Order: sequence, then C-alpha cells, then structure tokens
Amino acid sequence: MLEAKGISKVYPDGTEALCEVSFKVPEGESCSIIGPSGCGKTSLLFIFSGILKPTSGKALIAGKEVVAPSREVALILQDYGLFPWKTVYGNVSLGLELRGYGKKERQRIVSPLLKNLGLSDFADHYPKQLSGGMKQRVGFARALALNPDVLLMDEPLSSLDALTREKLQNSLLSLWKNNRMTMLLVTHNIEEAVFLGREIIVLSSRPGRVVIVVENNKVGEVDYRTTEDFFDKCREVRSSIEYGAT
Ligand SMILES: Nc1ncnc2c1ncn2[C@@H]1O[C@H](COP(=O)(O)OP(=O)(O)OP(=O)(O)O)[C@@H](O)[C@H]1O
Ligand SMILES: [Mg+2]
Repeated sequence: MLEAKGISKVYPDGTEALCEVSFKVPEGESCSIIGPSGCGKTSLLFIFSGILKPTSGKALIAGKEVVAPSREVALILQDYGLFPWKTVYGNVSLGLELRGYGKKERQRIVSPLLKNLGLSDFADHYPKQLSGGMKQRVGFARALALNPDVLLMDEPLSSLDALTREKLQNSLLSLWKNNRMTMLLVTHNIEEAVFLGREIIVLSSRPGRVVIVVENNKVGEVDYRTTEDFFDKCREVRSSIEYGAT
C-alpha cells in the first residue's frame, strides 16, 4: 500500500536529510517511525503527502508514485491547525464543505465522528475554549471526516500531558482498528511507537537511514501496554536508537 523506495532528500542548502530510505507498509497496517531529532522524519511524511519532492527515490501509495497531494491521504501535524473562527463542528465539516457535500450529508458524517471522539457536547465551541487534547481530537476528526485511505501523522500527541496522551493513543488505536486505514506515525516516544505500530521503523541520526524494522505482532491486543511482551519490544527498540546527534 505504502512504499518508500530508496528515498533520499538533500535540501538546496546541501543539508542531507534522508539517505536511501526503503520500507513497505501493507494496506491497513500501522507503522511507527522513530529516530533522533533532525533525522528527516517530517521530511519523509511531507514526501508521502506530496508536498515535498525527494531528491532521488520514490514514495509510492497503492503502487502509484506520489507527485502531488491527494484526497486519499491525510496529514495530521502537531499544532492542530484549527481555524480559530470556526466552531468544532465547522472545523470538522470544512473539508467536506469544500468538496461540495450538502448540509445533511455533512451532518451524517460529522455527527458520529464527534460522538466517537467524545466531542459531541463541544460541537458549538471554538478552539480557544478547548484543551490541547480536545483540539487534537478535533484535528483527528477533521482528517477522518474525509475518509482517507492513508493517515500520516507527525508527532500528533507530543504536546499533550502523559495521561491525555495515553487516552488519545487508545482513541487512535480504536480508530485504526475500526477504519483499517494505513497509518504512518512519527513519534519521539518509544512506548507510543510500540503501542501503535505493527511495524516500528528506527531511523539513524541525520541523514536518516533505516537502522532496523521491528515487527510488533501483538499490537492492538487488549492491555498490551501492561504486558511483558510490550516491555521487551520497548527494550528492543530503545537499544537500536542512537541518541546523541540532534
Ligand atoms: N526547508 C529546509 N531547508 C533546509 N534544510 C531543511 C529544511 N527542512 C528541514 N531541513 C533540515 O533537514 C533535516 C531533517 O529535518 P526534519 O524536519 O525532516 O527532521 P525531523 O526528523 O522531523 O526532526 P524533529 O524530530 O526535530 O522534528 C534537519 O537537519 C533540518 O534542519
Ligand atoms: Mg519533525
């Protein structure tokens, strides 16, 4: 479904961000990407979302080279990107409106999403009236309203406190289980990578290269977070991450 084929990225100023990155994520699977700061993770997501071109190599989605943004692919960033002058409902339904969906249709899609994400009571609130965790939920709802096949996420939970973060990790896991989207999640957090990724790709420090791909078959099991297997997996990932260069 999603494939990186020898992707390298050198910025015009000569910064080498990514070097020969290759991996595959099967359809409907989730994949975490973890690696030191500056190793090219955001660059890699931008390449998959079609807003940045690789210097060499290719990003493929469903067998086709990504050359421009497409409606099947949603990108969620860390800073929510909500419009302050629109309500929660308005923010979530905007994409549908832009695509010409009528009022009834928008409601049919948006209302259950808000309910699933615990936002029904806040539909008429504005972003400034929400907590960080709620804003991020609105960000998820907005992306999901368009029913994407691929969900790309760049550190979506990193600005949240630990408890909210854990709750949203659970929400993300159930969204993934229910919708079977293909997910690519960039995170700095080892536990998060292991809790949410069927595969965990560890990148080296800049220029990012694939150090190891860790298979994580138990992902999605009830209470995975508290099992011995989970801790073993975290240890395995931790031991392959290079700290240091930032
Ligand atoms: N537009 C740009 N021009 C030049 N260099 C850039 C540009 N964007 C990013 N870089 C550089 O490319 C490298 C990779 O950046 P990128 O943002 O992809 O890293 P990252 O892994 O997402 O880092 P972080 O974990 O801190 O978010 C960094 O050294 C960064 O300074
Ligand atoms: Mg980044």
